[in-house]
Amino acid sequence: MIKVINVVGARPNFMKMAPIIEAMNLKPDRIEHLLVHTGQHYDRKMSKSFFEDLGMPQPDIDLGVGSGSHAEQTARIMVEFEKVCLREHPDLVVVVGDVNSTMACTITAKKLNIRVAHVEAGLRSRDMTMPEEINRLCTDVLCDYLFTTDRYADENLKNEGVPEEKIFFVGNVMIDSLLKHVEQARGMDDVWKKMGVTRGNYAAMTMHRPGNVDNRPVLTDIMGALGKIAAEIPIIFPMHPRTRKMLQEFDLLRLMPPVEEAKGPVSAGIWSTEPLGYLDFLNLNMNSRFILTDSGGLQEETTVLGIPCLTMRPNTERPITVTFGTNIMVGNDPERILAAATDILRGKSKKGEVPPLWDGRAGERIVAIIAGEDWR
Ligand code: UD1
Repeated sequence: MIKVINVVGARPNFMKMAPIIEAMNLKPDRIEHLLVHTGQHYDRKMSKSFFEDLGMPQPDIDLGVGSGSHAEQTARIMVEFEKVCLREHPDLVVVVGDVNSTMACTITAKKLNIRVAHVEAGLRSRDMTMPEEINRLCTDVLCDYLFTTDRYADENLKNEGVPEEKIFFVGNVMIDSLLKHVEQARGMDDVWKKMGVTRGNYAAMTMHRPGNVDNRPVLTDIMGALGKIAAEIPIIFPMHPRTRKMLQEFDLLRLMPPVEEAKGPVSAGIWSTEPLGYLDFLNLNMNSRFILTDSGGLQEETTVLGIPCLTMRPNTERPITVTFGTNIMVGNDPERILAAATDILRGKSKKGEVPPLWDGRAGERIVAIIAGEDWR
């Protein structure tokens, strides 16, 4: 029997962990597992609603660390997670993605000589101003199993000197969750109908990167470009708490009224909503004309759904979404954002294909490898 602690902390972790837990549940005689939530994200709309949508079990242990500076948050997670490891004696810790919780739990476990598996290893933006890049590098250099989503990630790891026997190209767990829930999201009460827009006649947007939202001139420029796009097609913007806080501080929030205030059909403008749950956002995404984002996971989800995606970042750790998928990098330059959106509105959008092994079975492969079974 292998005893595993699975770790989640922030919104983009939940849909990555759900398929792993599901696959572990199928091997009760081989794997015993506990779920630890660090509490990095704690608002209902950023956390609990995802557990419900994804049918995930409630965490066995909640570290309740909450927000803080990077050092504070990372340190609090490490102190609390160390207690859990000392009490539970796991054989393996599984971490996903690239958030502070991922790195903090990896360092803590390794210093106790516990083996660690990183799901979504090897992604690199080469941008050291991104906290996630630092988290990815620190995590990968320490881990014992590196589960990758594509061959670029394998190459990155090999170039950094990671032995080949630690690297396993298994596919994409985020896409496991997407494929599992896509029909359910299609069949549900359409979330966009309540917002006064019609299918295919709106853009959906997410934005929360510190590089975009923490800087007044950058955010003001982006909002200028978005305003011009929104004159042609309404933009629905479920707002991350960090972004709401910054927009308020820069006195820009008034440019994006809550969609409930529209009270009827909507034809132009940027309309804000609270953060949406997993299924509601999937429903919004799959029925949109295109997506504007600075998220990592959305670049992958739009690639699989075939929805054009404009990524408002200077670089991506997920280049396969550009080479294979529907993703176009537009940076935070207002001219580029506007030009790319205009192309889509004039019918010039990129057609993509689904990358290898993004087939809904990555979680199964990962768990087979952890259980020491033949997995290919
Ligand atoms: C984190 C991840 C980022 C991921 C994002 C998804 C890191 C370094 N970053 O960024 O990679 O894309 O989650 O959402 O781990 N807040 C709330 N309620 C919450 C959580 C956060 O109000 O439930 C607010 C707080 O003011 C907090 C701020 O958002 O200080 C930032 O939260 P934090 O977890 O530090 O980083 P994110 O920006 O959410």
